[in-house]
Amino acid sequence: MADAVDYGEIADDYAFFLAHSTETEAQRAALAPHMARLGSEGRLLDFGAGDGAFTAGLVAEHGAPACIAFVEPSPVQAAKARARLAALAETRELDGLAGAGPFDLILANHSLYYVADPPRTVAALADALAPSGRLIAALLDRENALARIWRGAYAAAGRDFPFWLADDIAPLLARHGAVASEWVDYRLAFEDSPAARATIMRFLTGGTLGEAEAEALALFDRHRAGSRIVIDTRYPHLVLTR
Ligand SMILES: C[S@@+](CC[C@H](N)C(=O)[O-])C[C@H]1O[C@@H](n2cnc3c(N)ncnc32)[C@H](O)[C@@H]1O
Repeated sequence: MADAVDYGEIADDYAFFLAHSTETEAQRAALAPHMARLGSEGRLLDFGAGDGAFTAGLVAEHGAPACIAFVEPSPVQAAKARARLAALAETRELDGLAGAGPFDLILANHSLYYVADPPRTVAALADALAPSGRLIAALLDRENALARIWRGAYAAAGRDFPFWLADDIAPLLARHGAVASEWVDYRLAFEDSPAARATIMRFLTGGTLGEAEAEALALFDRHRAGSRIVIDTRYPHLVLTR
């Protein structure tokens, strides 16, 4: 089962990551054709919406769809998403996926790592898709440099890695339709310091490794470039069509 990570608790660490990476702009470019296809009549589900900023950015760029539904288990993040998204479109907050939909576009943006029962959640998401809809799951895969650090930290602590990666989710999606990988290339770069490394580590682990996290900070060594850490890497957007 996936570890529980309270994203309300690590919002500042996530913000540090976003401020030092080109990921959001790379993702927006990859998602542009899907947002264009959604249009102003489409119905969007944001699964694991966080504070809603990611989807709000897409809507600012492409215009509002007919409605935005979202699922977000962290109460702190859900309150932010509610306020942010309701200012842009008709918004519905969902407790779960039972009976939800149909949706023309479902975004699961870095959220499926954490679900307790991936086959069940993936099936529920697929069921919520409109017949010509698309489900896009953004997930690090095992080859991604940050996923290597993330997994390495758990290995160094002698613990099983408790999250699901793209390698785990892609075969589950394939039970429900055709799956294509659209690659997102990005850079994470920051001035190297123990505090900055610890911030990125906390963003990855949610602080679940406790004191063992300090030892795992050496995993960043191979990415040193002068006084900075520079990580060029990529991961797939898994795109399901039924
Ligand atoms: C890395 S954040 C991504 C947030 C947002 N999608 C974004 O791109 O900024 C992961 C989000 O998934 C949420 N999450 C965790 N467990 C979840 C679950 N079982 N179902 C849905 N969302 C979950 C977290 O609360 C968090 O807001």
